[in-house]
Amino acid sequence: MDRLEKALQKARSLREAALQDSAAVAVREPVASVPAPAVEIRPKRAADVQLSDDVLEKNRIVARQSRSGEADIFRLLRTKLLQAMNRSNLRTIAITSPTYGDGKTTIAVNLAMSLALDVKQTVLLVDLDLRKPMVHNFLGFEPKVGLGDYIQNDTPVPDCMVKLPVDRLVVLPIREPIENSSELLGTPKMIALANELKTRYADRIVIYDMPPLLAQDDVITFLPNVDGVLLVARDGVTRTDDLKNCLHSLGDSNVIGTVLNGSNERQFNRA
Ligand SMILES: Nc1ncnc2c1ncn2[C@@H]1O[C@H](COP(=O)(O)OP(=O)(O)O)[C@@H](O)[C@H]1O
Ligand SMILES: [Mg+2]
Repeated sequence: MDRLEKALQKARSLREAALQDSAAVAVREPVASVPAPAVEIRPKRAADVQLSDDVLEKNRIVARQSRSGEADIFRLLRTKLLQAMNRSNLRTIAITSPTYGDGKTTIAVNLAMSLALDVKQTVLLVDLDLRKPMVHNFLGFEPKVGLGDYIQNDTPVPDCMVKLPVDRLVVLPIREPIENSSELLGTPKMIALANELKTRYADRIVIYDMPPLLAQDDVITFLPNVDGVLLVARDGVTRTDDLKNCLHSLGDSNVIGTVLNGSNERQFNRA
């Protein structure tokens, strides 16, 4: 059994224990019944940023590399995720972890890129860490507009989307940090956007790069709008208690897997 599999099993048993514990925190009821206008979301423009291999490498964005053990690990993660998603017909996935620095954004960007390279689906990567948006930094571009402009200034969503020079990969970035993030994530406007992103195109996967679960309630606020959660833990850093607290907080939401980031053990040997 590989390390990832062990981590997934551990997370499953922790989750079962957490669900049996009467102290488990209830997840908020979905507020998706709030009526909200339809949101036009098709990106208008062709690729409008460049990617630099040096910048990507410095930021550990490796998924595009063809001969790399790290890229292979993301291909493995992609396969496992797609299997889980296809089994249950999931289209939208939130990536979160106990604290900052666990590797959520690193994994979200790599995974989105790896999924897009797999030709069978298009991918939208949404930066939903409103207070510390980092997706554009990891990819090495400065957004002129972003999700905040949709939320606060009614900028049409397609104008906020950035088409990358990777086929089938679009990013919805955040231009600058936004305060009162958890209130914003629960607004009818955000719920309408999440619903639109989920339902508009059958072959599209949406990856949300979320803030940490333990620091703020943004994730819990937004979770009713996503199909599944990928929980990141950092090898040698994440405390078992913190992971347990996360699983308590996630309640009965659909945790589809755990990623152990930063493990020194190789997941598998390349042929
Ligand atoms: N497996 C890893 N090995 C070494 N450094 C990593 C690894 N994963 C992420 N990092 C680095 O750790 C820092 C935090 O990662 P990040 O993805 O921003 O975490 P989060 O989004 O959870 O706050 C970044 O500098 C990132 O490059
Ligand atoms: Mg992050």
